[in-house]
Amino acid sequence: MKPFFAALLASALCLGAAAQPHPFDIDLSKPGAAIPATMYGIFFEDINYGADGGLYAELVKNRSFEFPASPLTGWTAFGKVEVRDDGPFDRCPHYVRLSDPGHRDKMTGLDNGGYFGIGVQAGEEYRFSVWARVPGGGESVLRVTLADPSAAGETQRLCEQRLTVAGAEWKQYEVVLKPTATLPKAVLRIFLAGRRTTVDLEHVSLFPVDTWMGHRNGLRKDLAQALFDLHPGVFRFPGGCIVEGTDLDTRYNWKDSVGPVENRPLNQNRWQYTFDYRFFPDYYQSYGLGFFEFFQLSEELGSEPLPILSCGLACQFQNDSMDAHVPVDELGPYIQDALDLIEFANGPADSRWGKVRAEMGHPAPFHLKYIGIGNEQWGPEYPERLEPFVKAIRAAHPEIEIVGSSGPNSEGEQFDFLWPEMRRIGVDLVDEHFYRPYDWFLSQGARYDSYSRKGPKVFAGEYACHARGRKYNHFYASLLEAAFMTGLERNADVVRMATYAPLFAHAEGWQWRPDLIWFDNLRTVRTASWHVQQLYSAYKGSRVLPLKMAGKPVTGAEGQDGLFASAVRDGDRVYVKVVNTSEAPQALSLQLKGLGRKQTARAAGRVVFTSDRLYEDNTLDAPETFVPRQAAFTGEGSRFDVTLEPLCFSIYVIEI
Ligand code: AHR
Repeated sequence: MKPFFAALLASALCLGAAAQPHPFDIDLSKPGAAIPATMYGIFFEDINYGADGGLYAELVKNRSFEFPASPLTGWTAFGKVEVRDDGPFDRCPHYVRLSDPGHRDKMTGLDNGGYFGIGVQAGEEYRFSVWARVPGGGESVLRVTLADPSAAGETQRLCEQRLTVAGAEWKQYEVVLKPTATLPKAVLRIFLAGRRTTVDLEHVSLFPVDTWMGHRNGLRKDLAQALFDLHPGVFRFPGGCIVEGTDLDTRYNWKDSVGPVENRPLNQNRWQYTFDYRFFPDYYQSYGLGFFEFFQLSEELGSEPLPILSCGLACQFQNDSMDAHVPVDELGPYIQDALDLIEFANGPADSRWGKVRAEMGHPAPFHLKYIGIGNEQWGPEYPERLEPFVKAIRAAHPEIEIVGSSGPNSEGEQFDFLWPEMRRIGVDLVDEHFYRPYDWFLSQGARYDSYSRKGPKVFAGEYACHARGRKYNHFYASLLEAAFMTGLERNADVVRMATYAPLFAHAEGWQWRPDLIWFDNLRTVRTASWHVQQLYSAYKGSRVLPLKMAGKPVTGAEGQDGLFASAVRDGDRVYVKVVNTSEAPQALSLQLKGLGRKQTARAAGRVVFTSDRLYEDNTLDAPETFVPRQAAFTGEGSRFDVTLEPLCFSIYVIEI
């Protein structure tokens, strides 16, 4: 037996005889803070191919031939293919002209390899669409194929359709493809066919027909479902550093991400080159998943949208000179962007930006309530830029709550400088980021117990346990996140939102880990951290209940045997969340105070999340190794004596 498990067994055996239960006093008569609906949410950024190649269901890479290094990046052209740049969409001007290859037995056409291949499922429908014209008039025929380029058998073809393009005007055409086999790395192949009459093609697109909610410019259903199942109360978008840009030209410009999808200009993705040891020279933002799609998804998930906008500072990690940033007296257009975004979300359908929203299919407002200005900013240059934004937004939209930043670190000089600045400026929430190691998470159970109850509230806007030497997803990291989150919950009057980050990662295309949800072209996996987030959301409750051991909150403090705990009330139910971070089982006595004379409480269920495989996680091949399970929990009265397993996150459900 391994020494670690021998120790567990030994401590388990001696527990019954010697250990006194840890008395948890839960006071029903003194319900505390209301738990905000926004408490547990999601953070989305197009990192790790989270949008293009990920949640955004477009399967064609470089569909508009706009990639700057070469308009044919992602494509293999054969025969006579010419790139032209006077197309029908002014902000995406490139297109291709396909002509007769000049010999009966030669072929003209194009292959597209998608993002790490094109994943297709047998029997599913895929909508191929293209803007096209026959420049000389008349008709031209295309053969559109999904193929297996590595097939060793008789044919590479998985399915094929013919499509006739007619006339010299640009029009959109579509045809549905239904592959006969499942393949993670198919290619889309287009042949010029028939009489091989010259044809022009632009915005060549392939989507599964079955997208999330059936939207045409839609999202990958399995990935959106993984978000829906989290019941996120708030949805932060679009990041992250991507908000800021490596330079101002490449910052996320929300106005480029709305309107007809064919005319959204391409942007460089800063995660293309951030780490040269995981380098992706073909990583761009198509903006196909833009601000409209974000608001729409927020609505469908039941989340409050929380857009984060540039404050006029380019990424401060990447720029040492003030010349990289917008001077304070030139912030006008940036402030206007923020005001216009509020109008885009909430304005009447006949207002300038409300009209854009309405034309995209959503005349009703999106009821935006929050906006963040700046991502991970620091130094005096941040508050001096934030202030004019706050003044302008307050004047025009006093109903909108504003989120400011406390910088990239969870403590230290910048953090200590920025928090008072955020109070002075009077933001409503302060965004805190912490990607921290085990010992940090173990030491921060009481972090918010002593925060001032006056002034701005906290948005824990990016966090994850990043173990030194184990910077990848694993169960133990998720356990410590669960432990830390008891402190968020207990302080729901101070912490109003919390979002783990980042959200998504493509198994072949990641730049940053750990992440909440992994995927490849066909599969998805919910990590142990995902399950922790999900449990907090599913057992969120509506009011905090005081929970104390020997008069103190249970925060993993010295003498508390590695225990962290919080309790909430949800109607006639009490949820007691306890995390045992120690390697020994712990006896607990859950004691309810304040039960009415005629009231009796009853154990109504228990969720257990534990594993002895501390440094592993769910994988694409084994996605359900680390999942919470229901466990026995019985008893009646006001006291429940239980034994909590080592290294375990458990939720005790008590009915009153
Ligand atoms: O979540 C990944 C990155 O971490 C974000 O883009 C940034 O805000 C933080 O540094």
